[in-house]
Amino acid sequence: MTSPAQKSPSVLILYFSFSSQTKNLLHSLAEGIAQENVTVEWERIKPLQHLRFPIGSVMKTFWMMLETFFRKRYPIEPLDEKCFSGYDLIILAGPTWSYNPSGPVLALLDRDGERLFAGRRVLPLISCRGYWRMHWWGLRRILRKYKALVDDLIVFSHPSREPWRTLGVFLKLAGKVPERMWFSRYYRKYGHTNAQILEAERFGIMIGKALVEGTDLGQLNFKSKKALV
Ligand SMILES: Cc1cc2nc3c(=O)[nH]c(=O)nc-3n(C[C@H](O)[C@H](O)[C@H](O)COP(=O)(O)O)c2cc1C
Repeated sequence: MTSPAQKSPSVLILYFSFSSQTKNLLHSLAEGIAQENVTVEWERIKPLQHLRFPIGSVMKTFWMMLETFFRKRYPIEPLDEKCFSGYDLIILAGPTWSYNPSGPVLALLDRDGERLFAGRRVLPLISCRGYWRMHWWGLRRILRKYKALVDDLIVFSHPSREPWRTLGVFLKLAGKVPERMWFSRYYRKYGHTNAQILEAERFGIMIGKALVEGTDLGQLNFKSKKALV
């Protein structure tokens, strides 16, 4: 328990979000954390070149998927110095891109990974359409190389069924409106649902409580049917 004289625990949310799905989850997660009187700081990972969503054409979308499959880095702006102070937890959040962490997150890991994460407790949060395992294994390996303390992760997948989910995401990225196409009865919405946003808040409360009570974050269970469909 934190006594009034003690400093309240603090969390840094360090994130990249291309089509706002990660960001939406994080707002709710942060609300949950803050409800437990934990200080939450934010830092957005900003690519040097503006990334336009939607990408705008089928060809450009294919190309981006191919480049990101080969783990293309997207250079980013310098981080605010506050990111390097002693947080009790860093939540490193972003989407899966072609089975990998996104290009801006890969650039962050290359440039700042050691300074940011050595000896720090890190909880990755992944937003994806459904294929996140390779992303997680790769990210965990890199974070552990930098001596980060990583026990677990939070994953949210898009709840639509396959093959509509993959088709819907691809078309959305390319600039179409899959929710209004011939398969719309199987594809109601791009991205995460309101129930998932609420679930993120519940996870936030769990994290906040664990930090305030000083219990092991590794014991928390984020594998719920709502989050990972
Ligand atoms: C270039 C690209 C590649 C993607 N590859 C994958 C993938 O391999 N697996 C997956 O589950 N989702 C993949 N997605 C979908 C995103 O992970 C998903 O839409 C996520 O919710 C987006 O989060 P954001 O809006 O925060 O960027 C890809 C998206 C993009 C833009």
